[in-house]
Amino acid sequence: MQRILSSEVKDQVGQSVLMRGWAQTVRDHAKVAFIDLRDRKGLTQLVFTGNMLEEVRKVTPESVITIEGKVAERPQSLVNINIISGTVEIQVEKLTIESIAKTLPMPLDDRTVSEDIRLKYRYLDIRSKKMAENLRLRHKMNNLIREHFTSHDFAEIETPYISKSTPEGARDYLVPARIAPGMFYALPQSPQQYKQLLMVAGMERYFQIVRCFRDEDARGDRQPEFTQLDVEMSFTSPEEILALTEELVLDLVKKLFPEKTLTTPNVPRISFKEAMEKYGNDRPDMRKDTSNDDELAFAFVVDFPLFEWKESEKRWDATHHPFTSPAPEWEDNFEKHPEKAIALQYDLVLNGSEIGGGSIRIHKPDVQGRIFEFMGHTKEGIQDKFGHLLEAFEYGVPPHGGIALGLDRMYTILLKEQSIRDVIAFAKSGDGRDLMMNAPSEVDESQLKELGLKLIK
Ligand code: AMO
Repeated sequence: MQRILSSEVKDQVGQSVLMRGWAQTVRDHAKVAFIDLRDRKGLTQLVFTGNMLEEVRKVTPESVITIEGKVAERPQSLVNINIISGTVEIQVEKLTIESIAKTLPMPLDDRTVSEDIRLKYRYLDIRSKKMAENLRLRHKMNNLIREHFTSHDFAEIETPYISKSTPEGARDYLVPARIAPGMFYALPQSPQQYKQLLMVAGMERYFQIVRCFRDEDARGDRQPEFTQLDVEMSFTSPEEILALTEELVLDLVKKLFPEKTLTTPNVPRISFKEAMEKYGNDRPDMRKDTSNDDELAFAFVVDFPLFEWKESEKRWDATHHPFTSPAPEWEDNFEKHPEKAIALQYDLVLNGSEIGGGSIRIHKPDVQGRIFEFMGHTKEGIQDKFGHLLEAFEYGVPPHGGIALGLDRMYTILLKEQSIRDVIAFAKSGDGRDLMMNAPSEVDESQLKELGLKLIK
């Protein structure tokens, strides 16, 4: 017999069926026992009577079972509209226990359980309705994103994880190189340089759903490794990039969250200056009613300052990153008035959260060189860190620009979660640990030796 799922049972009244899944609850009423069987589509009520009772008493909650039985309509008074197969139940005729579950260390679907426990037993936490739903919806959103960019003639291209540092303002994760003891790879803080090099390579339209790594404290809306929708285009303009992004987010809401309302039918543009004056920050929450979490207020913040003063280092630093182009009127004289210079940079904001950012890039090697120098990089430093990019720009580079959306952050808001961790299957704890795998952890002395490393006690 072929397995059927909870979503299919209601169409099988009177038929013999085979089902497989987890025994979510086991209720024993002496002459009759019930199991709520859970599979990937939902729950189905199983009924055990007569000689099946002895068998069913061995089943503990969350054990995995296979059953065969007959589908029966439930009396009207016992219909349960809260479950997908709530109009029917199954009279079980055969039960196989695939594996017995111990008592779970935590209840499922209970968000008052400490988050450390949920992260330690993540494979159980994901059995909960909300977490499973979040992950399935995350897939649907990723899928829609891929379709959107594919339909606009973009190619998804993978870029290396084991690579060289790309500055995005955070600390790097370093990977010691066995092939060159004493040397290190860095995990990318974003694929920024690779996507620009793909423009030099003539790919013209690139996107990628990609992991980024930043060694920073994992606050509420931050993870040390997180996922970006990364985009880059050649021969483009800020307006084209924003329009493409706007079309994407509006389509996402319309197709996957029809119950939500948008504060404005389109994504409004607001300048950095206006945002600071009106809202006091550069990620304005423009919702009409902030107590309504089904309201979505997207906005593009534009015209960012090119530089910000870094008091701790007593130097000007890029507001976004050092590849961001000054506005055309600032190209020749940003050094004279760094505090006034405007960048071709934009952020995407949702309900007061920064969920994306991007810019038009510098494609003139002399301007890029001046920017690096102005920010205090030495000639040797520039050559060492960015020589490959500057060299590439000497072989025919198209004007280009792009954007990256922080998908975990955007999904947290769309799925009405409090924490970014609730939209990530295997999230790190607030202090950056993988509590389930127990990482970071010690390594063997022999591994260190192979890498040419010695620990400082
Ligand atoms: P940026 O550094 O602004 O731009 O990153 C883009 C978006 O990524 C999200 N984000 C994070 N999400 C979770 N945890 C983190 N630690 C974290 N850090 C950032 C934010 C942010 O808006 N290469 C450029 C993009 C470009 O210029 O095209 C970049 O990475 O939502």
